[in-house]
Amino acid sequence: MTIQRVFVAGAGLMGHGIAQVHAAIGLDVVLYEPDLARAEAGRDRIAGNLDRAVTKGKLTTEDRDATIARISATADIAAASDADLVIEAVFEDLDVKAALWHELDRVAPAGAIFASNTSSIAIHRLADAVSKERRPRFAGMHFFSPVPVMPLIELIRGKDTADDTEAAIRELSGRLGKQVIVSADRPGFIVNRILMPFLAESMRAFQEGLGTAEDIDTGARVGLNHPMGPLELADFIGLDVCLGIMRVLDDGLGQEHMRPPRVLIELVNAGHLGQKTGQGFYTYPRAPR
Ligand code: CAA
Repeated sequence: MTIQRVFVAGAGLMGHGIAQVHAAIGLDVVLYEPDLARAEAGRDRIAGNLDRAVTKGKLTTEDRDATIARISATADIAAASDADLVIEAVFEDLDVKAALWHELDRVAPAGAIFASNTSSIAIHRLADAVSKERRPRFAGMHFFSPVPVMPLIELIRGKDTADDTEAAIRELSGRLGKQVIVSADRPGFIVNRILMPFLAESMRAFQEGLGTAEDIDTGARVGLNHPMGPLELADFIGLDVCLGIMRVLDDGLGQEHMRPPRVLIELVNAGHLGQKTGQGFYTYPRAPR
C-alpha cells in the first residue's frame, strides 16, 4: 500500500516534528490532540520551524505555505477515519497509550497501519489494545529528536507484525529520507538500550563529583566528537523522559548500570525536567524552540 494520509496523535515535541516531516514530503496530515488549542499550538510550532528555514534560504515561501496547508489540527479523533497510517506520539504511559489505541482502532479504516513512537514500551503490550485483526498492521516507528534533523527511524516488530507492514514503513521512511534499523521488541529497543546507560553513568559521575557538568559534557563533545554532551543531551530529551526509559530498562533488564541515578530522581521530583522547564543539569534562559 502507498501511504498518503497520516493521522498523528500527540502534538508535543515528537508529534509536531513527525507531522512536519510527513507534510514536507507532500502527505496530508491530521495533527490530533484532545484539546484543540494544543493541536493548533503544534501546528504553530511547525510554522515557526518552516519560517526559520525560509529565513535561512533553505525553503521557499510557496513550499512553506503548501506544507502548512497540508496539516490540519483537530480535537476530533474521528478524523482518523480515512487515515492510511496512524502514528501515536503521546505521553509515555502504557495506560494512556493503550486507551488511545483502543479508541483509534474503532475509528480508523481496517487497512490502516498503526505505529507507535514509544521510546521504550513493548510493542506487543500496546498491540494488545487493538483487535486481533489489526495486530499484523501494528508496529513501532521510533523517531529521534529533533525529528526534522535526525535521519533515523527505529522500526520495532511486535510478535504479530506482518512483513507487508514492515515493507510499507520502510518505503515511507525512504520517502522521508530516513534510514531504518530494525529492533526486536525488548526494553529500550536498540538506541535507548545503548544511550541510557551512557547518560546514567555520566549522571553518576556528576553526582560523585568526578567533574563539573561542563567538563563531563566537554569530554564527550571534544574527546568523542558527540554533537552534545550527555548531561546536555539529557536536558534536551527531558529528564522525566530519561527517567521513564531508565526505569523500563531497569525493570526489564535489571542490570546495575541501568539503575536511574539519584541526582536524576531528585531533579525530576523537584520539577526540573531540563530545557522544557528552564532547569535541569543546566539553566536555560528561554524556552526551547
Ligand atoms: N527543531 C528543528 N530543527 C532544529 C532544531 C529543532 N529543535 N534544532 C536544530 N535544528 C536544525 C537547525 O535549524 C539546523 O538546520 P540547518 O542545518 O538546515 O540550518 C540544524 O538543525 C543544526 O542546528 P544548529 O546549527 O542550530 O545547532 P547544532 O549544529 O548544534 O545542532 C542538534 C543541533 C541537531 C540538536 C545537535 O546538537 C544534535 O544532533 N544533538 C544530538 C541530538 C540527539 O542525540 N538526538 C536524539 C535524542 S534521543 C531521542 O530522541 C529518542 C528517545 O527516545 C529519547
